[in-house]
Amino acid sequence: MLEGKNVALGVCGSIAAYKSALLVRLLVKSGANVQVVMTPDATNFITPLTLSTLSKNPVYTDYFVAETGEWHNHVELGLWADVLVIAPASANTLAKMAVGLTDNLLTAVYLSAKCPVYFAPAMDLDMWKHPSTTANIDTLQSFGNILIAPGTGELASGLHGEGRMAEPEEIIAFLAADIKKKLPLVNIKALVTAGPTYEAIDPVRFIGNHSSGKMGFAIADELAMLGADVTLVSGPSAQVSKQRAVKRINVTTAAEMLEACQQNYTDAAVCVMSAAVADYTPLTVAPQKIKKQDDGLTIETKKTTDILKFLGDNKKEGQLLVGFALETNNEEQNAIEKLKKKNLDFIVLNSLSDAGAGFKTDTNKITIIDRQLQKTTFGLKSKEDVAKDICDKIRSLLKK
Ligand code: CTP
Repeated sequence: MLEGKNVALGVCGSIAAYKSALLVRLLVKSGANVQVVMTPDATNFITPLTLSTLSKNPVYTDYFVAETGEWHNHVELGLWADVLVIAPASANTLAKMAVGLTDNLLTAVYLSAKCPVYFAPAMDLDMWKHPSTTANIDTLQSFGNILIAPGTGELASGLHGEGRMAEPEEIIAFLAADIKKKLPLVNIKALVTAGPTYEAIDPVRFIGNHSSGKMGFAIADELAMLGADVTLVSGPSAQVSKQRAVKRINVTTAAEMLEACQQNYTDAAVCVMSAAVADYTPLTVAPQKIKKQDDGLTIETKKTTDILKFLGDNKKEGQLLVGFALETNNEEQNAIEKLKKKNLDFIVLNSLSDAGAGFKTDTNKITIIDRQLQKTTFGLKSKEDVAKDICDKIRSLLKK
């Protein structure tokens, strides 16, 4: 959930600041881009050098860099952030946030941030219990800021009680779960196919095609970013999912792809079949390498099962089925025939006659045709943006 997210991490003056090092490391490991802002007091507990080394970014501690006269733009940082996490959040900073005081860069970033703000308090038992702390937290929550509650345990003062900052692992888990639960496709299972299939002729040769898998991987990533639980059945492809939550099943042949789809179809609310599945497979696979002969070679083939049609024939109420049509001629007519024959909710048509569309390219140009034969044509876009358009259509149909 944190892959590619811009996380501004605010660190306040608290003994728990030593945990910020691990928090930064875990955020980076989760795929987030991290920029740390420290209050001047925080630098007494952990050095900016430690956090800049771990975050691989400069750490900001003040409005101004005295040596260069440079100014750190808090508005820019606030706008850059997809989430602002203040951990540890000291009683002092919580109070400033509650009343809008901006006497340091972190509180100025807080006031400028338009993104969700999470705060993980860390303080001594009595400070935590003080009515002013409770009131400040209530105020922050009334602003929509999200509390990551402290735990109970031994405190720096030697006392035992509530006030310990949540552990970095807990903070990461909290952020991921909270971000996910607000996504539009949460609790929706999706099944996506991608890439080519290879049908063996003999131990060294196969019938395949030029599909790279880029479009299917982009769709799987986009669905996962929207919160869906995605299973991606991929033929041989060098692509890697950007979203770690995507469950990948590697297959080689059309028969293996069919089996994987059958196993994952039942509870999938959304199915997008973008693989370029071989329509034919050799009738038999030669056990040894076929030797060169004087005359030509004829390979007898049989039809593979049309996976998309199988899913369409077995579609249950509430399941949404999306197919692709890669055409070279009579594009729309062929696509509409496939839409009807395979019982699809919509079909994504791309034409090899469009420059920049189809196999291997990083771009695609599509037309979406739905059951009502409503047609939407898009311009040439990156496959990531095309995936967004396809997912917009999926979302609009899920709402109905
Ligand atoms: N498809 C499939 N299983 C197959 C063949 C195709 O699931 N054995 C799916 C593809 O993933 C795609 C859609 O069917 O979503 C259309 O694929 P395409 O190759 O364009 O069409 P075909 O139905 O194979 O027809 P033709 O090759 O004659 O155009």
